[in-house]
Amino acid sequence: MKETQILILDFGSQYTQLLARRTREQEVFAEVVNLNITYDKIKKDYKNLKGIILSGGPSSAYDQNAYSVDPKIFELDIPILGVCYGMQLMTTIFGGEVELAANQEFGKSKIYFDVDNCPLFKNITNGTQVWMSHADHVTKLPADFVLTAHSDSSVAVIWNNKMNLYGIQFHAEVTHSVDGLQMIKNFLFDICKCDPNWKIANFVRDTMEQIKLTVGNKNVILGLSGGVDSSVVAALISKAIGQQLTCIFVDTGLLRKNEAKNVMDAYNDNFNINIKLIDAANIFFEKLKNVTDPEEKRKIIGAEFINIFNQEAKKIKNVTFLAQGTIYPDVIESSSINHSSKTIKSHHNVGGLPEEMELTLLEPIRLLFKDEVRKVGMELGLPERLVMRHPFPGPGLGIRVIGEVTEEKCNILKDADAIFIEEMYKNNLYDATSQAFVTLLPVKTVGVMGDNRTYEFVAALRCVETIDFMTATESHLPWDFLSDVANRIINEVDGINRVVYDITSKPPGTIEWE
Ligand code: XMP
Repeated sequence: MKETQILILDFGSQYTQLLARRTREQEVFAEVVNLNITYDKIKKDYKNLKGIILSGGPSSAYDQNAYSVDPKIFELDIPILGVCYGMQLMTTIFGGEVELAANQEFGKSKIYFDVDNCPLFKNITNGTQVWMSHADHVTKLPADFVLTAHSDSSVAVIWNNKMNLYGIQFHAEVTHSVDGLQMIKNFLFDICKCDPNWKIANFVRDTMEQIKLTVGNKNVILGLSGGVDSSVVAALISKAIGQQLTCIFVDTGLLRKNEAKNVMDAYNDNFNINIKLIDAANIFFEKLKNVTDPEEKRKIIGAEFINIFNQEAKKIKNVTFLAQGTIYPDVIESSSINHSSKTIKSHHNVGGLPEEMELTLLEPIRLLFKDEVRKVGMELGLPERLVMRHPFPGPGLGIRVIGEVTEEKCNILKDADAIFIEEMYKNNLYDATSQAFVTLLPVKTVGVMGDNRTYEFVAALRCVETIDFMTATESHLPWDFLSDVANRIINEVDGINRVVYDITSKPPGTIEWE
């Protein structure tokens, strides 16, 4: 992108994305790129580049096949910061040595300055706490590099003043590094002289211009799911090209209570947008009859979604573009050297379009992180409730009604879930947690109501806190709140007479039950 001032070369660290986020939080646009990027490509595509960061990674710089970089990038004449593996790689490239450490250093550590004029250390006190995570360490510095700081057991910072190269053994991007953010700011502003010019409003303006140019007088289709990403893409494209965009919104019957109506209202109130709402609930319930296996359900729902989307897409004339709500973590994941073949969520990623349609992908938010996508949504005037929503799985209630999915069970679950979420908002808990929902269990238990014996389903409340949804912990919701929710559900929802709260963390559990 023309705004890119910092390139982060990805060696596969779990923290690479964090480096980009920390940089963008300073209003400096950073892009994560594959480590194979060449000097020539950088020269050609990144005219405003001010600095490069070499990320951490799991390999060893002394291995024969160690991941490396185009050595010419050191001739770009811009500052380069190596983080963990990035520092070790720089060390070996310039003739120093890296070895497996006798004592591996994991966790909190203190660093002590060996020189006092390093610009990385501006406004940072000697002895500051950092986060270490390394098995290898630098044992011999390359020529022209000085030992700039050390920890109790390793070389912590190295510096080549002449070439403007810096290496840090620890992870400044992790919040456990107390002055890590200050160090990143020092690198961006004092060393690279970056300009804090990455503003969401400019992004929206420029992206709309770009969409107009790309699309011309052709038409665009988009599958709307009601989730944040596709909603923001719909808003962005519709503001740019109005009625040339057609959104297809398939109501699978597996959405939250009143979801279809709420989404339609949100758009009709705020945008001049063309949405085709397809009521396909009966088809989905029919296909899901007698199916109990979660993966089987996912496959059926995904395939049917694509089927219906395709039928509708073919009816629209002059379509050249398929818009998608791909976001940056998906892009980084698929270009990373550690790319694993994760299960594709086929219903999101409308991958099965007929080839004869020859559609070109339009992915206007592919370089944004989720929090930036939300900001774009707010900037465009989407309702806050829609933009700040918890994630909702593509197969929807299909995987929250455990066992066979029926319309009746979905309706029971929708009512229970709506009460839980309403109470979460009322008690200011919704925005403080990452994901909350109800799951309907295929178990009936005995209860009493008044003088009558009841025999009804059990509902499980789930609420978790997480940063990346890869790991999660159960939220410690107040007991009184949980009791109130349980009472409301049992009193107001026909079909549920018992409520439990799920206190399983991930791992070993998953967030969803199926
Ligand atoms: P798990 O259950 O794997 O969920 O811990 C992690 C996150 O992913 C969501 N999820 C899905 N999203 N299709 C989706 O689009 C799916 O099949 C699916 N399964 C789980 C889940 O809601 C949570 O946010």
